[in-house]
Amino acid sequence: MAGIPVIIDTDTAQDDCVTILLGLLDPAAELRAITMVAGNVGFDQQVANAHLTLNVAGRLGDVPVHVGCRAPLLREWASAEDVHGDGSGGLSMDLSRVHNDDEHAVNALLRLTAEAPGELNLIAIGPLTNIATAVVMDRSFASRVRSLSIMGGSNNGRGNVTPSAEFNFYVDPEAAQIVLDAGFPDLRIIPWAPLTLRDATFARPEYDRLCALGTPLARFFRRMCDATIDYDESVGVDGSTHPDSLTLALLLHPELVRASAPYRVDVETASERTRGMSTMAWAKFGLVPNAEVVEEVDSAGFYAVLQRLLATPTEPSVPIAGLD
Ligand code: RIB
Ligand code: CA
Repeated sequence: MAGIPVIIDTDTAQDDCVTILLGLLDPAAELRAITMVAGNVGFDQQVANAHLTLNVAGRLGDVPVHVGCRAPLLREWASAEDVHGDGSGGLSMDLSRVHNDDEHAVNALLRLTAEAPGELNLIAIGPLTNIATAVVMDRSFASRVRSLSIMGGSNNGRGNVTPSAEFNFYVDPEAAQIVLDAGFPDLRIIPWAPLTLRDATFARPEYDRLCALGTPLARFFRRMCDATIDYDESVGVDGSTHPDSLTLALLLHPELVRASAPYRVDVETASERTRGMSTMAWAKFGLVPNAEVVEEVDSAGFYAVLQRLLATPTEPSVPIAGLD
């Protein structure tokens, strides 16, 4: 049976890598393309991380990787290398025969959705620069997208890159607002707080159990996530955070959603103090909703999805130095 067709727009580091693995290996998914956007770490390193992830799954070259916007629309790029390192976990591979698709990510988003209107599901797990650029280039783009799931913002909760802003919305707040105003017919938001911090953060013993599954994917997972869990624990987050892979998991396994509601969501672009802060207005305020915000998920069920994924036996397409 064909899977759910998805395109992953990503700033590939840590949990972005887990999301790509889920798109490649979960039987419910059919990963059509990967589009790269400026975010977590150096852009070329992100692209290398994406190919490394395809490689560890034994799928190098199977899914087109499209290079996209190398900087936010207006702002200077803001890095999360303090959180993730360079996102490679010290792993490396021979990239000399690896190719990115010639088509720019934004053109790919526009073309693929024009070829299959109403069919493709976008998973946006980085800053929204590519998606916003596609909207500005073609105002009918949003109407052609089956669903858009965004990892971003906080639902009246704390930020992570500033006290009020979550990283993806902070890096390119103007892009986030353009996307929120674009009229996507099925827009879902998976926020940082409280959702990820409560339901998609695995404490050290649970994290270690995933790392100890004895497969190349489990060893890859540890290398990709070790820097981030160390950082998270150093700032009072009790474990390994997985907002990006949760975003795709909820599309593939909707039974994991325990609560969601329609909200009017906007992003602060004028204030420097609260740049990137998301406002999420629930029904009380009588605003017309533009998104369904996930409020609670089955955390144990999500953990089981990742456990099944990382237990999958794979053979890297080409050798990965440091993986053994
Ligand atoms: O705020 C969480 C988001 O930024 C995730 O997409 C993760 O990749 C982090 O860098
Ligand atoms: Ca990300």
